[in-house]
Amino acid sequence: NKGNYEHYMQKEIHEQPESLRTTMRGRLIRGGSCKAKTVLLGGLKDHLKTIRRSRRIVFIGCGTSYNAALAARPILEELSGVPVTMEVASDLLDRQGPIYREDTAVFVSQSGETADTLHALQYAQENGALCVGITNTVGSAISRNTHCGVHINAGCEIGVASTKAYTSQIVVMAMLALAIGGDTISNQARREAIIDGLVDLPNKVREVLKLDEEMKDLAKLLIAEQSLLVFGRGYNYATALEGALKVKEVALMHSEGILAGEMKHGPLALVDENLSIVVIATHDTCFSKQQSVIQQLHARKGRLIVICSKGKASMVCPSGSCRAIEVPQVEDCLQPVVNIVPLQLLAYHLTVLRGYNVDQPRNLAKSVTTQ
Ligand code: UD1
Ligand code: M6R
Repeated sequence: NKGNYEHYMQKEIHEQPESLRTTMRGRLIRGGSCKAKTVLLGGLKDHLKTIRRSRRIVFIGCGTSYNAALAARPILEELSGVPVTMEVASDLLDRQGPIYREDTAVFVSQSGETADTLHALQYAQENGALCVGITNTVGSAISRNTHCGVHINAGCEIGVASTKAYTSQIVVMAMLALAIGGDTISNQARREAIIDGLVDLPNKVREVLKLDEEMKDLAKLLIAEQSLLVFGRGYNYATALEGALKVKEVALMHSEGILAGEMKHGPLALVDENLSIVVIATHDTCFSKQQSVIQQLHARKGRLIVICSKGKASMVCPSGSCRAIEVPQVEDCLQPVVNIVPLQLLAYHLTVLRGYNVDQPRNLAKSVTTQ
């Protein structure tokens, strides 16, 4: 049921304040002062010790689920102190890459039925790793065959383009980082800031959804483009990959997410006055580096669209030479949840304006159950 919406993708984008609330329900435990203090993930509580002792945490997934894990990687590294590596499921299988008994392998999948992810799970089981699932589908193959895990509880997702599952996956993995991190005095303030940020996140997502009309206007400008590059780094490298995946998958426009730190190692050669580029430059420790990326793209006359924190437009385009999209600022590790929303809206409107099928893009299936 699409309710008042024209497409499932549109409904699922706008549903995110509620889906995020459901994802967190019962999992953030409030302290006496009515402040949320701890995370409780029922499905993991008996396994946290083993995860903390593991030699590495390896995230395994495909497409959007891989991107969600990439978005959560920095906070997991910071709070757990355990090395975190990333594997695209098919590539791990192609290489028969090393997985050890001392590893915690985390399988991220909305459907819980993706063939490559499922085969990678079987492979990791055979190699003796602790296998953890993060899935949206209770009773799915990945949910059943992992040793333990977390259901993201985002509600059924029908649009082939994953939207609300992505943001809920990131939130679950941020909670996973908090749960593994435990509470040492040294990170207490950081943990509380993240938990407070989680509690307020649905409100911030509601706020960022107000950009809908602005993103529709932007889509009108970009409707005939051949290509759209998306530059991000740090917490928002994943946002660049995921934004580009949405644009190519539904709007059928070439789009590429680029790690901004790699700009001078190749991609800069593409930039001229005919190229549209989205730069993600919200406020965090990478901000000044992103400012310099913007300057260099601007010097090559790229047509820039900059996603920045509220009130910071003049810091990212001093001469008014680019288009600034202002988003609410949240705790750095949660910023990817806010930042992806304007790109989801952009992909949606581009698709409708270009006249393509939003919920069922050509050649794709919601769940890729063959290899
Ligand atoms: C569970 C109940 C929830 C109830 C809550 C009350 C289920 C599915 N969930 O939620 O309805 O409100 O207790 O305390 O009955 N698991 C895997 N692999 C995965 C995902 C999950 O093995 O990929 C396992 C978990 O380790 C756990 C079980 O499935 O044993 C349920 O996981 P989850 O729904 O996340 O647990 P709770 O949030 O505690
Ligand atoms: O169900 P899964 O999360 O395992 O699916 C993985 C990918 O097939 C999926 O995310 C795909 O990339 C989406 N269509 C992206 O929107």
